[in-house]
Amino acid sequence: MPATRQPYHVVEVGQFDRGAIEHLFAEADRMRALPVRSRPLQDRLLATIFYEPSTRTRLSFESAMHRLGGGVLSTENAREFSSAIKGESVEDTVRIVAGYADAIVLRHHEQGAAHRAAAVSPVPILNAGDGPGEHPTQAVLDLYTIGHELGRIDGLRVALVGDLRFGRTARSLARLFRLTTGTELVFVSPPAVPMGDDVRAELDAAGVNYRDEIDLATVLPEVDVVYQTRIQRERFATRDEYDASRGVYVIDRTAMDRLNPDAIVLHPLPRVDEISPEVDSDPRAAYFRQAHNGVFVRMALLSTVIPEDA
Ligand code: CP
Repeated sequence: MPATRQPYHVVEVGQFDRGAIEHLFAEADRMRALPVRSRPLQDRLLATIFYEPSTRTRLSFESAMHRLGGGVLSTENAREFSSAIKGESVEDTVRIVAGYADAIVLRHHEQGAAHRAAAVSPVPILNAGDGPGEHPTQAVLDLYTIGHELGRIDGLRVALVGDLRFGRTARSLARLFRLTTGTELVFVSPPAVPMGDDVRAELDAAGVNYRDEIDLATVLPEVDVVYQTRIQRERFATRDEYDASRGVYVIDRTAMDRLNPDAIVLHPLPRVDEISPEVDSDPRAAYFRQAHNGVFVRMALLSTVIPEDA
């Protein structure tokens, strides 16, 4: 938490240190057990402004705020139904909404939009995804889920699978692993959508080991976590380019038979066809538990960035 009463923005995972993450995880555990009648953010308001579609991020933030006793203002299709359609900039929208709410959750189609919003906002901005850039609150809940499921976040071998170029959740999670020790990342992606050089450079600087693999079948028996991701159809210039990358890596019953018996499968969701529904009943399929953890992690984030006594 910053020493002065500057807004505590959550715009990218690079801002966190290990202490901040451990604080959030402890808070999320506390939120899991919070009595229903506890209302620490009573009379506070959260605005959710989403220029791109969402199910989990928007609704889990809104659920989190309601569970903390606060209220919610929401525009779920801001590209069409906010004054963006009239040409208003995200900076001006945020300046206005900051007068209506105590924090703003923002999803935008342009990389860097959350930084631009934070630069002008007097209330905390929580980046709910900025184009192919970052999705920091998802990465926090992903790492929290790993710790909750496996009992540790250090010394793990983690396969990041699928669209690692446009998949902002995979990018943010890879970056967050710089706060762990003894981690080995395995990047398994179709050739057109590899993990970006910017993330690789950050992992190099932090001393995190990583390697690229083509054959998912050989990776499955040796990892503790499979983090499967959707091929981000909406980010490709043409349908042909998307088709060249989709369906290459699928977690199905055959894949689960090869997976380490103590491993877990995560996915930020939504899924399309990259995890077969036949896998859902396997106890190692942790992606629905992961999504539910989003409420507790976002309760922890909101109670951290919106001070009770502000
Ligand atoms: N994981 C995630 O960001 O899901 P939504 O797009 O539904 O918010």
